[in-house]
Order: sequence, then structure tokens, then C-alpha cells
Amino acid sequence: MRLAGKVAIVTGGAGGIGRGIVRAFAKEGAKILFVDINDDAGTALEDELGGAGRYLHADISKEESAATIVAAAVEAFGKVDVLVNNAHASRQAPLLETTQEMLDLSFGTGFYPTFWLMKAAHAQLAANEGSVINFASGAGLEGQLTQGSYAAAKEAIRAISRVAANEWAADNVNVNVISPLALTEGVKAYVEANPGVEEVLLAKTPLHRFGDPESDIGRVAVFLASEDASYMTGQTLMVDGGSIKLR
Ligand SMILES: NC(=O)c1ccc[n+]([C@@H]2O[C@H](COP(=O)([O-])OP(=O)(O)OC[C@H]3O[C@@H](n4cnc5c(N)ncnc54)[C@H](O)[C@@H]3O)[C@@H](O)[C@H]2O)c1
Repeated sequence: MRLAGKVAIVTGGAGGIGRGIVRAFAKEGAKILFVDINDDAGTALEDELGGAGRYLHADISKEESAATIVAAAVEAFGKVDVLVNNAHASRQAPLLETTQEMLDLSFGTGFYPTFWLMKAAHAQLAANEGSVINFASGAGLEGQLTQGSYAAAKEAIRAISRVAANEWAADNVNVNVISPLALTEGVKAYVEANPGVEEVLLAKTPLHRFGDPESDIGRVAVFLASEDASYMTGQTLMVDGGSIKLR
């Protein structure tokens, strides 16, 4: 059990990649406080996990949620070793049609909660020589069409991850980023609503399939949260079937 004795916070843990990470962490012995706004899915996952997972309804776009989330993890499981900033909502539009509201949605659910939670959890992470795992996207790395508000927030997340990696190395807190590709409920709905998109996406993916939230993305998150990754910090890991090669 590679995460035995560790306590993790996972945002957006009731669905998609977040749920895959929660399941993968639980199988490796971690205790997880997972946060979402989808209560039906959250309580169903809590039941599935038995005592390993605790669901908390919290809207991460509200700054005060950060302190509440960290306090809930400490109350439930005594400490925090791992912070996974996974949830992120956004809307697509060409740049010329991108509104302030779209920027606010993407930064308000992606960049700001990542920053607030990193600050709120820092004392716990430093006390436990912990790990932060943040989420980027190929949309940001490549500047994909119609993704202006999302791409900007995702690259801002990578930027503060590098700063935190440098600043928090003194505390032995490592900070890394996953850029995933996975068949979540959202991606499934998107490819179903846009015929031909799946073929286009898979044509750019050498491994020629979408990742699985638990066995492909969750397992890499387990590695980053484990002692095996303690000499890695400030890195972006492409977990996308080979679609993008960082150099
Ligand atoms: N799925 C992919 O292929 C892909 C590709 C690139 C990047 N990503 C990134 O990976 C991460 C996970 O993606 P996903 O596809 O699983 O997303 P998703 O939209 O399927 O799931 C996100 C979860 O976050 C929750 N959530 C949304 N807003 C919230 C809020 N304000 N407070 C609390 N919870 C909230 C949702 O209820 C949902 O359970 C995101 O950061 C996403 O940008 C995903």
C-alpha cells in the first residue's frame, strides 16, 4: 500500500478524474476528504469507499471554502499530506467572444481555488513533508481554439506550481502538475454532441485511446503523492496517451 497512513484532499472528487483519483488513493491505503458540489455522486462514492473517504459539500469558488476544507480533513483524519486541486469549470468561445464572465468562471473555479487551497493547506503539508498535485491541460499548452479563458487559467496554475515548488522545497513539500486526457462524463458528452471530434482527438493521440480516470490518471497521481516521487518537484507530467511531448 503506497499511500498507507497518508491523508489527501481531492477537489471535484465526486466525478470524472477526481473520482478516479479518490478510488486509486483508497486502494493504496490513503484516507481522503473529497470535495464537490454534486451531492448525489459524492454520497454514493462515500458509501462505496466505506471509512476511507469522507465527502464534503463545498463550492471551491468561494474563498472561505479553502479553510473549511482543510479543517474538515484535519477533523476527519487528523492531518493533510496530499492536496489534489482537480476541479475546474469553464466555457468555450473564440477569443473575440470571450467575456469577463467566462474569465471569472475559469479563474474562479480553477486558478483561485488552487491558490487559496495551497495557502490554506501549507502548514499541514509542511508539517508532513507533503505533496501538491495541480491540474493543467493540453488546451493551455497548445493554445487550442476557443479555450482562451480555460487555457489562461491552466497556464496560471502551472506558473504558481513552479513558484511553490521553488519556495516550498525548503519545507520538503513537492508540487507537481498533471496534464491529463481521460474519458470522463464531460468528455463523453462533448464527443457525443460533436460528431467527428473523437476521431480528431484520437488521431493526435499516439496510444489511440482516452485515458481511464482511475487506472491511467489516478495511478500517476498515486505515484506523485507517494514517497517514490519525493525527488520530483515543479514538473508537469503529460498523462495524455502521448498527445503532447514536453521538452
Ligand atoms: N478530462 C480530460 O480529458 C481533461 C483534459 C485536460 C485537463 N483536464 C483537467 O482535469 C481535471 C478534471 O477534469 P474532469 O474532466 O474530470 O472534470 P469534470 O468536469 O468531469 O469533473 C469536475 C468535478 O468537479 C466538480 N466541481 C465543479 N465545480 C465545482 C466547484 N465550484 N466546487 C466543487 N466542485 C466542483 C464537478 O461537480 C465534478 O465532479 C480538471 O482540472 C480539468 O480541467 C481534464
